[in-house]
Amino acid sequence: MKKDLLSIADLNREEIEYLIGQARCMKREGASPLLSGKTLALLFEKPSLRTRVSFDIAMHQLGGHSIYLSPEEVGLGKRESVADVARVLSRYVEGIAARTFSQETLRILASHSSVPVINALSDLEHPCQALSDLLTIYEKKGKLSGLTLAFVGDGNNVANSLLLAASLTGMNFHIASPPGYEIKKEVLNRGKRFAALSGSQIRLTNEPYEAAKGADMVYTDVWASMGREAEAEKRRLAFLGYQVDNKLLSLAKGDVLFMHPLPAHHGEEISAGLLDDPRSVVFEQAENRLHLQKALLVKLLSNPKVSGK
Ligand code: CP
Ligand code: NVA
Repeated sequence: MKKDLLSIADLNREEIEYLIGQARCMKREGASPLLSGKTLALLFEKPSLRTRVSFDIAMHQLGGHSIYLSPEEVGLGKRESVADVARVLSRYVEGIAARTFSQETLRILASHSSVPVINALSDLEHPCQALSDLLTIYEKKGKLSGLTLAFVGDGNNVANSLLLAASLTGMNFHIASPPGYEIKKEVLNRGKRFAALSGSQIRLTNEPYEAAKGADMVYTDVWASMGREAEAEKRRLAFLGYQVDNKLLSLAKGDVLFMHPLPAHHGEEISAGLLDDPRSVVFEQAENRLHLQKALLVKLLSNPKVSGK
């Protein structure tokens, strides 16, 4: 496995399946202190509930601990260059989970750090979410390959990682976004290359019902991601008709799973009450962040540090 997880595509299909297997095992049997004495830095430029708490608890359950570093404390790229922060943290900790605006910040962190850097969400990707979602899907459906995941909404970080995750693991991926909010060409082309190898189908549309028809999972996310709050009003208008509700879910398979990474905006991307629908697995998704990330941390942080950086 590579030193860092900056994109879900840093993993191949076997590595993804390995992490899912390890996470299921840890979930069943509990964790042992495999990271005793090790420390993870949580370097965050944006707010978080699930990611911050699940990484913190994961380290605790594995016998290590974490240090949360808020934007105000570190001033990443402002008080100190990203490269210098990486070099300093590498002298103290065994891993860095970073939530940044730009993917480029993660790339610089990783290239100047001698310890693994994990993408804890950037504007481009959210690989830990996608991996945990694959675990949830696997638990519920007993397989990944051949299923169809329909994403309705913004072609954002979560959608990008899910498209890549699906196309790596043989899952079909449908996405319905309003004109102007589609998934980016580079991500799509990368996904298409993986899909050609895994046999999955990718379908892009502007029509939510087309995406949802016959799907095994219907997934949505907020219309205005963190950092895009100023566009919220404009986006509310652009995304009218893209709400996931009972009517849309009824077009999917009878045993469809409704998925969302949370936080959710009730009455916007989802109809009121949908989180409590029997088809909803959103809280399993949130729980699985913990199990999957424990497997990931053990894999990445168990290696001795790379010296000389
Ligand atoms: N799903 C997710 O990443 O949640 P947080 O933003 O609360 O970490
Ligand atoms: N797309 C959302 C996901 C939050 C977990 C955001 O970036 O804000």
